Amino acid sequence: MAAETQDEPDGAPPSVFSPVRDLVMPALELPAHFAFNERLKLDGLEFLAHLPEQTFPVAFFDPQYRGLLDKMSYGNEGRNRNRGRSALLQMTDETITAFIRSLDRVLMPSGHVFLWMDKFHLCEGFSHWLADTKLAVVDLVTWDKGRIGMGYRTRRKSEHLVVLQKTPRRAKGVWKLHDIPDVWAETVPRGAETHRKPVELQGALIAAVTNPRDVVIDPAAGSFSVLEACLQRNRVFLGCDIEG
Ligand SMILES: C[S@@+](CC[C@H](N)C(=O)[O-])C[C@H]1O[C@@H](n2cnc3c(N)ncnc32)[C@H](O)[C@@H]1O
Repeated sequence: MAAETQDEPDGAPPSVFSPVRDLVMPALELPAHFAFNERLKLDGLEFLAHLPEQTFPVAFFDPQYRGLLDKMSYGNEGRNRNRGRSALLQMTDETITAFIRSLDRVLMPSGHVFLWMDKFHLCEGFSHWLADTKLAVVDLVTWDKGRIGMGYRTRRKSEHLVVLQKTPRRAKGVWKLHDIPDVWAETVPRGAETHRKPVELQGALIAAVTNPRDVVIDPAAGSFSVLEACLQRNRVFLGCDIEG
């Protein structure tokens, strides 16, 4: 990984912190059938294939993990339990790899992917998804959901977000907010979609790695929580879900 420190002027000690972002997103021309700040109904891989390379400062990716249903299976999935989750199109390992390679292609240098991940993939490994990309893990945030869920042993109360960065990897001049804790407590309102992710956390991360009016992409957007985060933070959303 590239060194994340550099010498300060006037002999000051080296610092990794900077409140400014020195990266500028390239100009973007959108395909005619895409629109900003809308809930596009599209296959995410097809959507990504139409985007220009080396352009976007940040992408969110929240795959529909097949493994989670299998690991947490009580035998009555889709009937008494997990009805909403079971109805969604599950992604295979090959599909997730294809998404990550496409995201790598469209990200600008030093861009970030915020990859939501369940604890099973986190522990068993996901490095094969990053093979043949310029992406590497640079951080991890745990989301404390505030409510207790299911589990054979411990009961689940958290989810995880892996922070990937494309080369050249550096924080200074790229990541400009330095008050985001790596354990984040935020409760999603009762009755929200089962897979919905926290808007405030995603908004803070967006603010850290983009400038106002930069474009944030999400190719499997579910309830479009990232769209809401973008609108709150004066950023532009471009994303889709296969279910619309
Ligand atoms: C875990 S959910 C995303 C939740 C979202 N982050 C939120 O906060 O609401 C995953 C989504 O991927 C969608 N999906 C599955 N296969 C897809 C594909 N090939 N292209 C686009 N979306 C897909 C599912 O419809 C589902 O809404």
